[in-house]
Amino acid sequence: MNDSHHILGVDIGGTSIKAAVVDTRKGALTSAVLRARTPQPSTPKSVVAAITELARKLKWRGPVGVGFPGLLKHGVVRRAPNLDAAWVRHEIVDHLRRALSVSHVAVGNDADAAGLAEARFGAGRGVRGTVVLVTLGTGIGSAVLHNGSLLPDTELGHLEVGGKDAETFASTVARERNKWTWEQWGRNVDRYLTTLEYMLAPDLFIIGGGVSSDPEQFFRYLENVEAKIVPATMGNDAGIVGAALFAAPGVKALARKHKRTKV
Ligand code: BGC
Repeated sequence: MNDSHHILGVDIGGTSIKAAVVDTRKGALTSAVLRARTPQPSTPKSVVAAITELARKLKWRGPVGVGFPGLLKHGVVRRAPNLDAAWVRHEIVDHLRRALSVSHVAVGNDADAAGLAEARFGAGRGVRGTVVLVTLGTGIGSAVLHNGSLLPDTELGHLEVGGKDAETFASTVARERNKWTWEQWGRNVDRYLTTLEYMLAPDLFIIGGGVSSDPEQFFRYLENVEAKIVPATMGNDAGIVGAALFAAPGVKALARKHKRTKV
């Protein structure tokens, strides 16, 4: 199926790259999720080659939306803390258009993708007010929404709390690296969320990333946060569905401001 609402969603992560065809009206996958290990070193060339291979396996020639684990502006990467340094200043949108031979490629931040998907189809569906989604994974990503509209490109995973970048004490990689118990780590996440709450006064926090399937392990330590906290409900699909939304008709996100060019 290849109409303007069916879009290939690609989620680039620190450990794996996932891709599936998405029906963006329903927020549902219409193909299997294909995965590739994130190449090491994770240079633009090797990552784009892996994405091209996934698209080829899915026999996909239509529009493509990509969730990228870093900050980009106008199709150019500014920062990608968990990927190879060669990404900085790389023209990712043009590179993907050429490599995939498709004219419509939209790229946005991976956490924004998850936030858009959860707001439309998941834990944030129909929620009014301010919703903050944080993805706790290799890094910490953030998405801030108000009445369902996204404020793109927030990088609140790098908020300094007590003089430390939050990613260094509240990401899941920090938990694994430091061999912290769920309680030790949960209390760090509590400190991080409390700081975010002080600044943004959200009505709802959504916790995404792999740990969203283990809320019973650490939600009980998030005791100083006043806002409601819920786990993301779309699991790994959120990043893929949201990435596809970047390229969907009628979805407003800065990532769509790149002009379409003929290949
Ligand atoms: C990056 C964010 C990204 C997050 C999750 C952080 O290190 O700065 O842009 O959303 O990791 O991948």
